[in-house]
Amino acid sequence: MRLLTLMFIISLALVSACGDIGAEQTAEAEVVPQATATPARDDKPIIIAHRGASGLYPEHTLEAYAAAIDMGSDFIEPDLVMTRDGVLVARHERYLSETTNVADKPEFADRLMVKEIGGTYREDWFVEDFTLAELKTLRARQPRADRDQSLNDQFAIPTFTEILGLVAISNGPEMAVGIYPELKSPRVFAELGHDMEGALLKAMSDAGIAEAGVPVIIQCFDPDTLRSLDAKTDYPLVQLLPASTDERLSPQKIAAYADGVGPWKNIVMQSRGGPLNYMEQARGAGLFVHPYTYRSDDIAESAESFEAELEQAFLLGVDGVFTDHPGIAVAIRDGDAASVN
Ligand code: G3P
Ligand code: CA
Repeated sequence: MRLLTLMFIISLALVSACGDIGAEQTAEAEVVPQATATPARDDKPIIIAHRGASGLYPEHTLEAYAAAIDMGSDFIEPDLVMTRDGVLVARHERYLSETTNVADKPEFADRLMVKEIGGTYREDWFVEDFTLAELKTLRARQPRADRDQSLNDQFAIPTFTEILGLVAISNGPEMAVGIYPELKSPRVFAELGHDMEGALLKAMSDAGIAEAGVPVIIQCFDPDTLRSLDAKTDYPLVQLLPASTDERLSPQKIAAYADGVGPWKNIVMQSRGGPLNYMEQARGAGLFVHPYTYRSDDIAESAESFEAELEQAFLLGVDGVFTDHPGIAVAIRDGDAASVN
């Protein structure tokens, strides 16, 4: 880990330990439009560190993001949800039991409740019921049982502002890394009275991300959220596409408000000689294509190995990939596969 990155993480840990977390942004923040920053990287496909270097570290921690930056990732990808007091924090799910030690904290036993998620009910602890100060007492865990568990219960849940600080300090003459945030469950947080879009844009404005020239791409599954953001910011927007074909928008419709698509990877791979030709359709509509998620422990049936799957994607001409293993992806993209063995 680079010295500057390590120093930054240590300083954040000391600040949190002192309880000085009152300077975070609020959900009621005024929206401030920002300048566009390009996602282009010398015409090579970009490597997007999915939840950080989440193949090796507990996902969505500063340590996972810092490792991904050190591996040469072009972007780091935080999924964002909101605390009860309206602070954006990095978690993939609103529920906390799979990625933190919340179940081992008796002081939060009364927060266990049943809520509906995507049409099913789940008993769990939910991020919107915790203040930031409470959330900061939790520690992250590796949710995939077949991955390294030795780093569990050490790292805190970071705020979006802390992640932006890490990105800002990591940029310089010899390195450029961008931020690729995803707004999760925007309708749920709007119903709770939070303004996720405003908080997202204000956090980046407050961090001076545009002035520092940090590349930014904003992603979401919800088209209405992206249409709303399109009226508020010039940052590139990406429409995520789920595996379900029922919910798939046409590239022509997406191009009216977004700059790119983030399809489930099999949507793209099916286009190889298949009937969908999704890459061609998206390109024809002027959209760049960043499929998700490339994982060494979840490879496509059509690929003989993780490395072969990445090579297939690059040969197909994708503009970037979301991957849990950015170090391997950087090496494959740069023709340096020997370095990953
Ligand atoms: O954001 C790209 C990809 O991460 C979308 O899927 O569920 O892992 O956020 P998910
Ligand atoms: Ca995501």
